[in-house]
Amino acid sequence: MSFSRRHFILQSAGAAALPALAQSRAANDKIQFATIGIGGMGFGDTASAVATPGTQFAAAADIYQGRLDRAKEIYGNALFTTRDYKEILARKDIDAVIVATPDHWHAQIAIEAMEAGKDVYVEKPMVQQPADGLKVVAAAKKTGRILQVGSQRVSSIVYEKARDLFRSGAIGELNLVEANWDRNSAIGAWQYSIPTDASPQTVDWDRFLGSAPKRPFEPIRLFRWRNYQDYGTGVAGDLFVHLFSGLHHILGAIGPDRIFASGGLRFWKDGRDVPDIMMGLYDYSKTLNHPAFNLCLRVNFVNGAGETSGFRFVGSEGIMTVGNGVTLTKQPPETEPGTSIGTFSKATQEQFMKQYRLKHPARKASAATMKAVREEVYSPPPGYNDHRDHHANFFSAVRTRKPVVEDALFGIRAAGPALASNASYFSGKILAWDPSKAELKG
Ligand SMILES: NC(=O)c1ccc[n+]([C@@H]2O[C@H](COP(=O)([O-])OP(=O)(O)OC[C@H]3O[C@@H](n4cnc5c(N)ncnc54)[C@H](O)[C@@H]3O)[C@@H](O)[C@H]2O)c1
Repeated sequence: MSFSRRHFILQSAGAAALPALAQSRAANDKIQFATIGIGGMGFGDTASAVATPGTQFAAAADIYQGRLDRAKEIYGNALFTTRDYKEILARKDIDAVIVATPDHWHAQIAIEAMEAGKDVYVEKPMVQQPADGLKVVAAAKKTGRILQVGSQRVSSIVYEKARDLFRSGAIGELNLVEANWDRNSAIGAWQYSIPTDASPQTVDWDRFLGSAPKRPFEPIRLFRWRNYQDYGTGVAGDLFVHLFSGLHHILGAIGPDRIFASGGLRFWKDGRDVPDIMMGLYDYSKTLNHPAFNLCLRVNFVNGAGETSGFRFVGSEGIMTVGNGVTLTKQPPETEPGTSIGTFSKATQEQFMKQYRLKHPARKASAATMKAVREEVYSPPPGYNDHRDHHANFFSAVRTRKPVVEDALFGIRAAGPALASNASYFSGKILAWDPSKAELKG
C-alpha cells in the first residue's frame, strides 16, 4: 500500500480503531524506499535516506551482484535485492526510489518510476540527453509525483547564507561569477577500482548498456563509466552541473543564454573519450533577481595541488566567495578617480592637476585615508552535512506533497547548460540556450 493511501486510511479510520492503528502507525507509517543503482553514490544516498526519520530501506536493484551482496552485508539479509529495477517498480509497498545509476539510465528509470506511482530522488545530472529534460518535467507534472534532483548543495545552509547575503545587496551590483572544481588524483579523475569478480555471470551487461550502443562485455566501461560519452556526461555533466545548481540557487537565476566551452584531454589518456580540462563561458541576461553578468567555469583534473572547488561572486561593492563556508570582502567604491596623465605634455599635466585638485583636494596618506576592506567569514557548524538536509527535504515533500527545493525544471535548467557545454566543446560552436524554456535555440 502506498504511503499516501495508508495515510488516508489512517486519517479516515473510526475513533474506536484509533488506539490499535496509532500503535501500528508508528511502524507502518514509514516511507518505504528503494535504491536503484547502489554503487558509490547509491550507498551514500541510502545512508542519508536511512538517517532521515520515518524512512525504511526496503529494496535495492543493481546490475552487478557484488553491490547487492554488499547491500545485504550492511543492511541485513531481509533486504530485497534484484538485478532488474522493474521488479522494484512493480512492488506496491515501495513509496519512493533513489536513482543512482550511471547517467544514461536516469531519465528512463525516473519516468518509469513516476508512472509506476513512485516519488523519485534522481542523481545529477537529471538527464544524459538534453532532449530528455522536458520529458522528465512532463512526467512529473502528469503523474503528480515528487521528483528531487540530487545536487545536494541546493539544500546547504552555506548556500542559503550566500543567497541571503546576495539578496541583501552585500556585494552591490553583480558583474562576474567565477567557479571551479580542480582535482589532482586518480580517484578524482574517475579511475575507480574494478572488482576482481567482475564477469558476465556477476554483471547483467545488457541491462547496464540499456539504450547505449551494444558491445561485448568490457568491465572497465561499467566500473569507469564516467570516462565514456555512451554512459556519462564528461566533466561538465559530472561537475559543472553542481556549479550551475549552486549558482542558480544563490542568485535565483534560471540559466545562461550564450554558451561556449573549450578544453582538452591533457593527462588522463587512459582510453577515455571525454576531456580532463574544461572551461566554460556563459552570458546571463538581466532578470528580476539579478543583473546581466558573465560566468566562467573551470574543471581541471591535472591541477598541481589537491582538490579545490568554489565560487567567486564579484560585485561593485565587494566579493563573496562560497566553498565550505562564505567569505564576504567588502570594498567601498573608489573615491579617488585615476589620473593616468603621464603621456600628456608637461604643461597639460600641470593644467590637468590644477583642475583636478579643485575637485579632489590632496589627502596625505594616513590611517584615515586607508581603504576599508572588511572581511566577514561564515562557517557551518562542524560536521554539517548538506546531503542529509537534501534527503530530509525530499522525504518531507513525499509526506506533505509540498514542493522540493530541486524539482525537474530546476534540474534541466542546471543540466541543460552543462550538457550544452559538451556540445559546444565537441562542435567548437557558441550555442544559444533558452533559459526560460530550458532548451537549445535553433
Ligand atoms: N550528488 C553527488 O554529489 C554525486 C556524487 C557522486 C555521484 N553522483 C551521481 O550518482 C550516479 C552514480 O554515480 P556513482 O559514482 O555512484 O557510480 P557507480 O558506478 O559507483 O554506481 C552506479 C551503480 O549503478 C549500477 N547500474 C548500472 N546500470 C544499472 C541499471 N540499469 N540498473 C540498476 N543498476 C545499474 C552499477 O552497477 C553501479 O553499481 C551518477 O549519476 C553520478 O553523477 C552524484
